[in-house]
Amino acid sequence: MSNNIIDWAETGGVVTLTIDDPTQSVNTMNAAYLESMDATLARIGGMGEALKGVIIASGKSTFFAGGDLHDLLAAQPDHAVQLTDFVNAVKRQLRAIEKLDVPVVAAINGSALGGGLELALACHRRIVLDGEGVRIGLPEVNLGLLPGGGGVVRTVRLLGLAVALDKVLLPGTAFRPTEALQLGLVDEIVSTPEELVAAARAWIDAAITGIGQQADPVAGIPGGTAYEPAVEALLPGRAAGLRARFRGAPMSAAANILAAAVESTQVDIDTAFDIETRYFVELATGQIAKNIIQGTFFDRQTVNAGASRPQGFPTHTAHRVAVLGAGMMGAGIALSSALAGMEVVLKDLELAHAEKGKAYAERVLVKQVAAGRRAAADAEAILARITPTADVADLSGCDLVIEAVFEDPDLKAKVFGEVVDIVSPDALLCSNTSTLPISALARSVGRSADFIGLHFFSPVERMELVEIIVGERTSDATVAKAFDVVRQLGKTPIVVGDGRGFFTSRVILSRLLEAAAMVGEGIAPMSIEQASQQAGYPVGTLALLDELTLTLPHKIYGQFREEAQRTGAEFAEHPGDRVLESMIDDAKRAGRAAGAGFYEYVEGKRAGLWPGLEEAFGPTRPAEDLQELVDRLLFAEAVDTARCLESGLLRSTADANVGSILGIGFPAWTGGAAQFIDGYPGGRDAFVTRATQFADKFGPWFSPPASLSETQSVAVRA
Ligand code: NAI
Repeated sequence: MSNNIIDWAETGGVVTLTIDDPTQSVNTMNAAYLESMDATLARIGGMGEALKGVIIASGKSTFFAGGDLHDLLAAQPDHAVQLTDFVNAVKRQLRAIEKLDVPVVAAINGSALGGGLELALACHRRIVLDGEGVRIGLPEVNLGLLPGGGGVVRTVRLLGLAVALDKVLLPGTAFRPTEALQLGLVDEIVSTPEELVAAARAWIDAAITGIGQQADPVAGIPGGTAYEPAVEALLPGRAAGLRARFRGAPMSAAANILAAAVESTQVDIDTAFDIETRYFVELATGQIAKNIIQGTFFDRQTVNAGASRPQGFPTHTAHRVAVLGAGMMGAGIALSSALAGMEVVLKDLELAHAEKGKAYAERVLVKQVAAGRRAAADAEAILARITPTADVADLSGCDLVIEAVFEDPDLKAKVFGEVVDIVSPDALLCSNTSTLPISALARSVGRSADFIGLHFFSPVERMELVEIIVGERTSDATVAKAFDVVRQLGKTPIVVGDGRGFFTSRVILSRLLEAAAMVGEGIAPMSIEQASQQAGYPVGTLALLDELTLTLPHKIYGQFREEAQRTGAEFAEHPGDRVLESMIDDAKRAGRAAGAGFYEYVEGKRAGLWPGLEEAFGPTRPAEDLQELVDRLLFAEAVDTARCLESGLLRSTADANVGSILGIGFPAWTGGAAQFIDGYPGGRDAFVTRATQFADKFGPWFSPPASLSETQSVAVRA
C-alpha cells in the first residue's frame, strides 16, 4: 500500500516497525492501521529465514492509544457484523505477530493504554521507558467497554483470572511503569530512549528462535482455569462484589468483562478471542458506552479546548496569587495554586489561621511523599511557594486574587476593598462564593469588568471541576483569563451565567427537593436511597442531603421564591421544600453537622435511617415502581439542565455534561445531564413524553422546555 503508517527499518535481519499515523496526534486502531499492518506482515513474511527479530515502536510521544473513539461512537447495533469483522481482523494480525518464529519486542516509549497495551501484549517482551506521565493499562471499563483486542484473554493467560480481573480489567487502572513491572504487565524498564532501543535489540540478540510456537500457555494459566475448584469458588464472590459496587446501576461493561474473562479460560485461545469479541461488540454498539465516551471523553476535550472561552484573547498566565481566607477552601486553593507553580500569598485575619491553612497543604504533600507519589524535594519546593500572612501589604504584586472568606456579602466586599489597591492594577478578581450573585459582589467591589466567580469544589486539590461564573459586567477578556487560570491549575472549567445557584448547585437542588418530596409522599426512605444508587449516584440522596445540611437547599430555594416574587415570575411550590422545612424547624434535624437528619448519627457516623420519619410524615410504604423513582431523580436534574441550556445560563451541552458528572455526581453511564436526554431509550421524543407525564403527576418543574421539542439536539455539538 502507498500510505503505510508503519515505518520499516531493517538492520541485520531485525526489523523496527515505527507506527506513526500522520492524520492524528496519537496512533489508534483505525482502518489505516489495519491496512498498514496487513502490508507490513506480508513484507515480514516475505523475508523468510533472513528475519531475525521484530521491534514494534511508535513515532508519537505516546506508544499507542487504542481503539478509535470516533469510530466507536458511530457504531450502531446494525453495524455489529462490520465491527465484529474489524475486531477479528485486528486480532488475527496480533495473533500473527505473536506466532512469528522470531522474537518480537514492544519498545514502549510512552503511554500504552487500551489497544496500545493489547498490541504490546501480543509481543513476546514489553520494555517500557519510565518517563514522566507514562501509563500502562486497560482502562476500557471506564468508557463502558472491554479490551476487545485480546486484552481480556491475554491478561488472564498472563496474570491469572484473579489478578487480571481484580487489578487490571475491572478497576481499569492506568499504572506507572514501575507498578506495571511489579504486576507483570511489562518485563523491563529503562530510563532513556536510547536505552529502550538498545534493550530491545539486546533481548532479541539473546532470545531463542521458535518463541512464537510457545505462545499458547493455555494449560498454564496462573492460578488455573475457571474449572479449578479454587478458582470457581471465587467467582460468585466476584459477581456479588460487582453488584455491591454498582448497587443495581447499569454496569454492563464490568459484567461483560467478568463473563469474557471466566469463559476465556475454558476454551482454546482462538475460541477465547471470539468470545471476547462478542462481548465487546455488544458493549460497543450499545448506548451506554456512547454516552460515557461522549460525556467523559469528547465533551471533556471540547470543554478543555476552550469551546466556552471567548476567542481572540492571548493565553494568560498568573504568577502570584492572593488567596483571601485560609479556611477549608482557601487552604485547598493555595495548595492547588502552588502545585501549579504559582507563588501564593495566603491571607487570613490572623497569622495563626493562615499558617493553619499552609499546614493543610503540608499534610497533603507529606502523605504524597510517604506514598511514593512525590519526591521530598519537590514537596518542599511546592510548600515554599506558599507564604502565610495577616498583612495585606504582602499582597502587592499579585496578579490574581481568589477570595474564600465566610459566605457573607458584606465581609466579601470588605476584604476585596482592603486589597484592591494593593494588588496589581489589572489583577483578576475572583470570588469562590457558592451562592452569592457575582454581579452584586462585583458592584460592591468596583472593578466589575475584572470580577468573576471561580466556584471550586471540596476537597479542592482533588476535585477537577471549577465553575466559572460570569457576572453582568464581567468582560470577555476576564472570562478568557479566568479560563486560562483554571487550566493552569490543571482543572476543568465550565462557564456559566450568574443565576441563583449558578449551574451545579441549582441543578442538584432539583434532585434534593425531589427526594425530599418522596419522603412527604410516604415512600419508604430505603426505597429512595435504593433508587438513588440504582440510578448510579454515588450515595443515597437523603444521605447527601444530610451531608450538605438541609438548611442549604432550603435557603437557596427560598432565594428562588423571593426572586420570583420580586420579578413577578411564576413559581410553583415544591412539596420537597415543605419536608425540608419541617425537618429543620419541627424535628430539629438539619443534617449530619447537627447530629441528626434523615439518618441518625452516633459519634458523627451514620447509624441507620431515623425511625421517627413515619411519625413526622405518616406511614411509609416501599415504592411500587422503583424505576419511577430512579427516573424522577434523573429527570429532575436533566429537565433543569435543559432549561439552563435554553436560557443561556449554560453555553454548551459539553459544559452541561462535564459539569454534571464532575460537579454533582450525575451518573457517568448517562454521559451527563444533557447526554441523558439524547441517549434516553427511544430518544429525545421519549424523554419529552416521560417528562410530560411526570409534570402532570408530580409538578410543573418536570415540564420539558420548548427547545427540547423544537430542535434535533440540545445544542450543536462542537
Ligand atoms: P471556612 O469557614 O473554612 O473559611 C473561611 C476563612 O476565612 C476562615 O479561615 C476565616 O478566618 C477567614 N476570614 C474571615 N474573615 C476574613 C478576613 N477579613 N480576611 C481574611 N480571612 C478572613 O469556609 P470555607 O468552607 O473555606 O468557605 C469559604 C468560601 O468558599 C465561602 O464563600 C463558601 O461559600 C465557599 N465555598 C465553600 C465550599 C465548601 O465545600 N465548603 C465549596 C465552594 C465554595
